[in-house]
Amino acid sequence: MSSEEMLREVAAEVSTCSKCNLCKGRTKAVPGEGTPNAKILFIGEGPGFHEDRQGRPFVGPAGQFLDELLASISLKRSDVFITNVVKCRPPNNRDPLPEEISACNDYLDRQIAALKPRVIVTLGRYSMAKFFGNEKISAIHGRARKKNGYICIAMYHPAAGLHQASLKDTIREDFKKIPLVIAEAERMAAEVPLKVSEPVKPQEEPPQQLSLF
Ligand code: URA
Ligand code: SF4
Repeated sequence: MSSEEMLREVAAEVSTCSKCNLCKGRTKAVPGEGTPNAKILFIGEGPGFHEDRQGRPFVGPAGQFLDELLASISLKRSDVFITNVVKCRPPNNRDPLPEEISACNDYLDRQIAALKPRVIVTLGRYSMAKFFGNEKISAIHGRARKKNGYICIAMYHPAAGLHQASLKDTIREDFKKIPLVIAEAERMAAEVPLKVSEPVKPQEEPPQQLSLF
């Protein structure tokens, strides 16, 4: 199955899913959207009011900020893939419960497997927890690390930036690191073999302080 077909299959299942109680209060499930060829996958928390109405991720105020952040690194929504940890809106935007996150986890894992993104950006604490366990966002935000076989960067949730001006700047700065991390990920994936004539430098340092791995 192509990645496009896999993503379409997940979206179809999500749209009629009743694996957890969040199905009861939803207007529309929000499977996520973007290109099957995305090099970068953004994972948020869960749909809010506007997302639930439209069936699309990040279309409210937090989504407007996300659009601005994407534009700041010359990306459009159609260049990436955007999804959430839970695909249905928790009542009154409460935090998703552990059992809801685990009920929905298989859809997220299948989206990741379909996309095989070069870089995964977690937005907020619930997607961060999937890859970074109990680490603190204040300590690790904006730094690339290899987790579960993927290069991941944890970022503050864009909605947090709407409430706190200093965080808005932090998120903007963290976003600017994304192109460099993608370039580094591409370089590693290409694994350019050294020419025999080139002397092998011992203990060569990686370029920049990407703190990968
Ligand atoms: N916040 C999220 O985490 N996801 C959305 O889709 C919208 C707002
Ligand atoms: Fe299904 Fe996920 Fe919606 Fe729960 S949140 S009903 S598991 S799609």
